[in-house]
Amino acid sequence: MNNGLEDVVAAETVLSDVDGEAGRLIIRGHPLEALAGRWTFEQVMHLLFGGFFDDLPDSERLAARLGQARADAFERAGPLLPLLAELPVYDAMRAALAPMPDGLALDEALRLVAVPAVLIPALLRQAAGQDLIAPDPARGHADDVVRMLGRDTGGAALDAYLVTVSDHGLNASTFAARVVASTQAGLTSAVLAGLGALKGPLHGGAPGPVIEMLDAIAAEGDARAWIDRALNRGERLMGFGHRIYRVRDPRADALKAALHTLDRVGGRLQFAEQVERVALVALRQRKQSRVIETNVEFYTALLLEAVGFPKESFTGVFAMGRVVGWIAHAREQALTGRLIRPKSIYIEEGRARAA
Ligand code: COA
Repeated sequence: MNNGLEDVVAAETVLSDVDGEAGRLIIRGHPLEALAGRWTFEQVMHLLFGGFFDDLPDSERLAARLGQARADAFERAGPLLPLLAELPVYDAMRAALAPMPDGLALDEALRLVAVPAVLIPALLRQAAGQDLIAPDPARGHADDVVRMLGRDTGGAALDAYLVTVSDHGLNASTFAARVVASTQAGLTSAVLAGLGALKGPLHGGAPGPVIEMLDAIAAEGDARAWIDRALNRGERLMGFGHRIYRVRDPRADALKAALHTLDRVGGRLQFAEQVERVALVALRQRKQSRVIETNVEFYTALLLEAVGFPKESFTGVFAMGRVVGWIAHAREQALTGRLIRPKSIYIEEGRARAA
């Protein structure tokens, strides 16, 4: 029995490979460093969807269809938005995805990619009492998201972010999506399963708390004292540690490089790098049996903050990128035709387990 399923191989995939010892992420044959900041999100979506949809057009036409899907999603979202106003951004997104058609067609996949991209900026602007900005189907996906948010820079950094988080082996949310797809349910059901798994702070919910940690340390002024107190209370430092990586998460460096392309972040980035150094020293001293390094969420928090997203929307923006990975994995799993159904061991309450 293995509670966390460590070292259990539960899928064969052509989509991505996470080498935790070497600190390397390969997305469908390409190392992350060759994609982030070089390929657009739409190109990586095309890469991941290849072979999983009979009618997949070339990359440019796929990007145009995604642009159109954004425009459609904006129109459909209109009447829904006031109803979602009371909900936190993540919950509103889940609610908006739930009633969508649950088929396997490319158009349905594109709608699942478009909805988070359109909805998050719209929800944020609605909450701030600002007029909504309609999508421009002719723009690049990330560029358009930033524009819908009301910003005129940051599209390239967001594009690098969305590419960086597009897929990552059999992480908790991707596994959840594959389990649902293995029952031959549709793409919306698989994406909702992935979205549910993403919410918790041990997976996609960490970057908001990273900002809270940085703000608390900035207010106190002494990073080491704050970190020591948190660790003495038995707390985990958000943005550090990983189930698979035993060295630095390569996505952290991809995002750090993207951050350096933004001009608004200077002081904040320097401060965060200083906190990172102090945290790594503290973790090394206290957890000598375990390598705990910076993970993707630490720099995600800084990048999304710099692009203009408030921290309560970070998990939703993560889903905006990871949704293409969930969809590709769902298709790949469904094509195996095999239901995922592991076993459990029954422990009779009040009785010791047989040796
Ligand atoms: N801060 C402090 N201690 C940490 C830690 C962190 N961020 N991450 C792991 N540890 C410690 C654990 O407390 C445990 O210590 P112990 O042996 O003294 O009890 C040890 O390292 C092993 O932890 P374990 O729970 O087996 O690791 P895991 O493989 O389940 O951890 C995470 C993976 C991501 C769940 C974990 O590192 C974590 O909670 N990180 C913080 C949240 C985060 O950044 N999530 C985003 C992940 S991309």
